[in-house]
Amino acid sequence: MTFDEARALFPVLERFAYLNAGTLGPLSRPTLAAMEERLRFDQEQGPDDEVVTTDSEHPGLLLALHVAGVRVRVAEVAARPTADALQAILSCITPRTKLLALSHVLWTTGQVMPVHELKRESGLPVLVDGAQSVGAIPVDVDELDYYTVSCQKSLCGPEPLGALYVRDPEQLGVGIPSYFAQKSLEPDGTFVPADGAPRFDSGWLATPSLAGLEAALAGAPEWRFDRAVEMAEVCRGALRGRFELIADGEKSTLVSFVAPGDAAKEAARLYDAGVIVRDLPGTGWLRASCGWWTSGEDIDRLVAALGA
Ligand SMILES: Cc1ncc(COP(=O)(O)O)c(C=O)c1O
Repeated sequence: MTFDEARALFPVLERFAYLNAGTLGPLSRPTLAAMEERLRFDQEQGPDDEVVTTDSEHPGLLLALHVAGVRVRVAEVAARPTADALQAILSCITPRTKLLALSHVLWTTGQVMPVHELKRESGLPVLVDGAQSVGAIPVDVDELDYYTVSCQKSLCGPEPLGALYVRDPEQLGVGIPSYFAQKSLEPDGTFVPADGAPRFDSGWLATPSLAGLEAALAGAPEWRFDRAVEMAEVCRGALRGRFELIADGEKSTLVSFVAPGDAAKEAARLYDAGVIVRDLPGTGWLRASCGWWTSGEDIDRLVAALGA
């Protein structure tokens, strides 16, 4: 290639004496063409791998799926019976699906998702967001592949503690390695992963928090699950007929219902009346979370404060 041919490759040189490669080098026609082609390819193909989730996931799961660089297919399960939810999720599976990722108990409606049936029927890796299940309903991870635990909810532990169950840790790469991830390290950062679970540790955990969690776990009575679900049913019974219940009949501890007015304002008003529930943004619903510690008097106070 002659100098004139090489120079002709750069459109910018047709207009400018371009003397600023110290900041940005000029882009040649082949470079621009390659970029355009790749962009077209990406728009047509999309990322190859897919993950299937539901339309009722918490941002805690959904945001992580979004940044994973895979295509996220969303199954419509909100307020559907369990059998329908199962079919809706299964029907989103394609040959490209690499993971099913969903909550065991939906934070919005309290529906219990058929996570074990999904594993059995699909045979795919299943990641379960256990934020609203662990400590609230009996959980057996059984053949599930990944299961998250939030300790500050129904386990009544201090913030910010959580856990991740991984069925086969040797198959999982370390995405965000902390100091604890390695047992030996090269000058360029290459490392041999630590044995077992510590390779996934995110950093130091405050020992007072861990001591608090141990006490919380030891303090939960063995009748906790029966009592929690029973009190949720008492709560539903007290609201039924006066308010529209969402996903009535579920066996979880979350009781969602249509707020009598603006949900956020109602939640604030209830707080002033000494009753703590939360509103679910974008739905007009309030959510009462019952636990083994919930009393009939708590439910009476909710009903009275609602003015029902
Ligand atoms: C279903 C679900 N997933 C995830 C989260 C986030 O939990 P954490 O704050 O422990 O990450 C919540 C919190 O409300 C939740 O309800």
